[in-house]
Amino acid sequence: MNNFKDAVKESYGKRINEYSQQSLTKKSSSCCATTSTEENTKGEAQSSCCPPNVAQEQKTSTVPSFGCVINLAEKAKIKQGDIVVDLGSGAGHDLFQAAELAGPEGRAIGIDFTPDMINAGMKTAAEKDYKNVDFRLSDIENISVLPDNSADVVISNCVINLTMDKESVFKEVFRILKPGGRMVDADIIAKNPLPSEITQDSNAWCSCLGGALTKEGYIEKIEKAGFQDTNVTIFDEFDYLNNKFQNGILEARKPLP
Ligand SMILES: C[S@@+](CC[C@H](N)C(=O)[O-])C[C@H]1O[C@@H](n2cnc3c(N)ncnc32)[C@H](O)[C@@H]1O
Repeated sequence: MNNFKDAVKESYGKRINEYSQQSLTKKSSSCCATTSTEENTKGEAQSSCCPPNVAQEQKTSTVPSFGCVINLAEKAKIKQGDIVVDLGSGAGHDLFQAAELAGPEGRAIGIDFTPDMINAGMKTAAEKDYKNVDFRLSDIENISVLPDNSADVVISNCVINLTMDKESVFKEVFRILKPGGRMVDADIIAKNPLPSEITQDSNAWCSCLGGALTKEGYIEKIEKAGFQDTNVTIFDEFDYLNNKFQNGILEARKPLP
């Protein structure tokens, strides 16, 4: 298996810089690489994992969304006082919504390994004077910046599919959650196991497709990490190179002792 970690970091650094320079008016700022017909005919990954509602919300938000679903913080039922961790927070689109729902007694901590995403998020946090938001630069496969049993809810929007070692990610989520805490992961799900033509293609991987697991594949790794009450909700389905993908939310709970 190729290691696409550097390619992912570079790709998302480029996307946030392009966004900052206001040059993304024609290109999608979502997790997907291209939107133009010309580019798609070259066989590059389509904008398929960016549902129209995400693209629409992007037009009305000041913080770019690179995610798979809209209003993830609301969907995750974050409540006042919650400590929320957003894995692969990007520039903070869901993190800022989580911070508002968690309120002054709560906290929203964004983790991302792309320095320019973290810098963009910190700039917004300072400009809008968010007092309950932190951004930390870290790989979510090893979240050494956070202690055990410290979060009420871990959210993530279109990120875990991009990681090389998903078992480590779910183990880390389990470690940082308090007993009874919840993971709410919006992600891309492959309807069937993917061919190497997609899993070994850097562009497909960086576009949230190449590293997508099947529903069963995700559930196996989530439960292996120790989670219970796993639930998967599918929102929509799309095709890429004759393979079917779904946008969904994977939820699970860390058991009480
Ligand atoms: C598709 S974007 C989603 C960003 C954000 N969740 C949103 O909805 O706008 C994926 C993000 O995950 C980050 N990412 C990917 N793999 C990561 C890893 N192993 N550790 C930390 N961040 C990662 C990327 O830097 C990027 O900001």
